[in-house]
Amino acid sequence: MSTAPWKTALLTGASSGLGRGLATWLAKRDVKVYAAARRLDQLEALRAEAGPNIVPLKLDVSDSDATFATVRRLDAECGGLDLVIANAGVGDDTRVKRLDWESTSRMVQVNVAGATATLCGALPGMVERKRGHLVGISSLAGLVALPSSSVYCATKAYLAMFLEGLRLDVERYGLSVTSIHPGFVKSEMTAKNKPEAMPFLLETDDAVERMGRAMLRRAKVYAFPWQLSSLIASAQALPRPLRTAVLRRLR
Ligand SMILES: NC(=O)c1ccc[n+]([C@@H]2O[C@H](COP(=O)([O-])OP(=O)(O)OC[C@H]3O[C@@H](n4cnc5c(N)ncnc54)[C@H](OP(=O)(O)O)[C@@H]3O)[C@@H](O)[C@H]2O)c1
Repeated sequence: MSTAPWKTALLTGASSGLGRGLATWLAKRDVKVYAAARRLDQLEALRAEAGPNIVPLKLDVSDSDATFATVRRLDAECGGLDLVIANAGVGDDTRVKRLDWESTSRMVQVNVAGATATLCGALPGMVERKRGHLVGISSLAGLVALPSSSVYCATKAYLAMFLEGLRLDVERYGLSVTSIHPGFVKSEMTAKNKPEAMPFLLETDDAVERMGRAMLRRAKVYAFPWQLSSLIASAQALPRPLRTAVLRRLR
């Protein structure tokens, strides 16, 4: 097993799915993982399974002020975070006929404000130490606008753009920034979807392994699986009227 270049990590959304898998993947490589989410019972179950490298941390990232303050405090208290992964995310349809403002607003609070606060909270310490790795879990949905998913796609496009810009600013201080764009992966989030609506669906462990390796090589951008990522790149290359016609058929 490859050894990890990080000693301490903060990972949001660690109570299920990709986050739980990534926490286990890091803990196995001897990284001390501050595993954050709202469901403390799930985080304690994770610690029982993955061992003492997991430190459960109850955190609701939709409170972005509290998230920023918590990450700053943690960074100071633990002697400096080496890796911060903004993974917590929520995804829902955007219904245009019967708009659910609560779920729409939650996507913005968690995926945009929460992820920004998580990563910004670690910035001052990392910049001062001239060391650190910032990772955001965006999505292939952040690279193309999909029907019934306008808000989710937009939140993930925001995160990708934020990371892209951040990289321009922090590389000079020796920091790394990785933007990860998964396709469909089995998790609580996708459990409600019909399998036929999720081409090239990946097992959670498979996706986690790919993401872990991308972080190890400090990839700047990692979009996977290549089959879906190439289809999206091809769709984006089409003239707009043709692209619109193709994408509308996905509804
Ligand atoms: N699965 C996919 O196909 C796929 C594809 C592309 C991108 N992604 C992205 O991957 C990330 C992980 O998703 P997943 O598929 O693993 O889904 P998941 O199993 O539903 O996990 C989502 C995680 O986010 C946490 N979370 C949600 N709201 C939160 C809040 N307000 N504060 C703190 N934590 C919160 C949840 O923990 P609590 O409920 O305990 O707080 C949970 O641990 C998300 O950003 C998602 O957008 C997933």
